Amino acid sequence: MGGMVTMLSGSHSLDQLLEAYAVGPGPVVRANFVSTLDGHATGGDGLSGSINSSADKQVFDVLRALADVVVVGAGTIRAEGYGRLRTEDPALVQVRRAAGRADHPTLAVVTASGDLPEKVMVDDPDGGALLVLCARAVSDDLAERIGADAVVPAGADLVEPSLAVEALHERGLDHVLTEGGPHLLGGWLQAGVVDELCLTIRPVVVGGTGPRIVEAPIGRTGELAHFDLRHALAIESDLMLRYVATPD
Ligand SMILES: NC(=O)c1ccc[n+]([C@@H]2O[C@H](COP(=O)([O-])OP(=O)(O)OC[C@H]3O[C@@H](n4cnc5c(N)ncnc54)[C@H](OP(=O)(O)O)[C@@H]3O)[C@@H](O)[C@H]2O)c1
Repeated sequence: MGGMVTMLSGSHSLDQLLEAYAVGPGPVVRANFVSTLDGHATGGDGLSGSINSSADKQVFDVLRALADVVVVGAGTIRAEGYGRLRTEDPALVQVRRAAGRADHPTLAVVTASGDLPEKVMVDDPDGGALLVLCARAVSDDLAERIGADAVVPAGADLVEPSLAVEALHERGLDHVLTEGGPHLLGGWLQAGVVDELCLTIRPVVVGGTGPRIVEAPIGRTGELAHFDLRHALAIESDLMLRYVATPD
């Protein structure tokens, strides 16, 4: 499929971005990541926040606004200090309400160990709901901490991506967005559950051997996934790429 390349420079409206990232009705899983020019998923401090930009943040917020649930691996939760999700921009709250969504997306954390920081476990009346997609081995402990309704066992020792996605869809959470991190994305690509990859390329070079956006599952070599370009938005010097999975 030939990609539609759209150049947006300078100012760009919320409506333009909402249109560019709109999805049709029905279940969808997309991933959103940021990478430096030399392929790094984090800056010198080991966090992705330090390679963000205002343009990337705008697209990040739009993708969240269109999602019912944001899935994040426990490694990223611990590293980036995630709490419950909040839609801060009143315009995006309106977008969610118009689409029949809750004001804030649900946060779904993926863990095998059950080792989750207090910040994400405590209820936030001004934020979205929490689900924990976990291995069965830790589900009883988690249920005691956060209540059985928030705990979704989706595999024996590890969370199986297809069971996780099925469980979210069964709860009416059709539009699934994952923000990573690299281990989670590797597993989800290998399982073939990712419909779209939204990738921001930031024009910075950090060098060294930091993480890439995908940590390949152990023992896996060769191509993990293949995508076709849907659009490329150039905003200032950032490139916002929207890729859709190539049909089998
Ligand atoms: N550039 C970007 O867009 C971007 C996006 C996200 C994160 N990051 C960066 O990535 C780094 C974190 O990397 P990471 O690879 O550790 O992140 P990650 O994939 O979020 O975390 C890995 C952890 O998530 C859980 N997990 C993932 N897949 C699982 C599965 N199938 N079953 C059960 N548990 C599973 C496990 O948690 P337990 O250990 O609890 O079992 C695992 O140790 C941070 O530095 C962060 O800043 C960058």
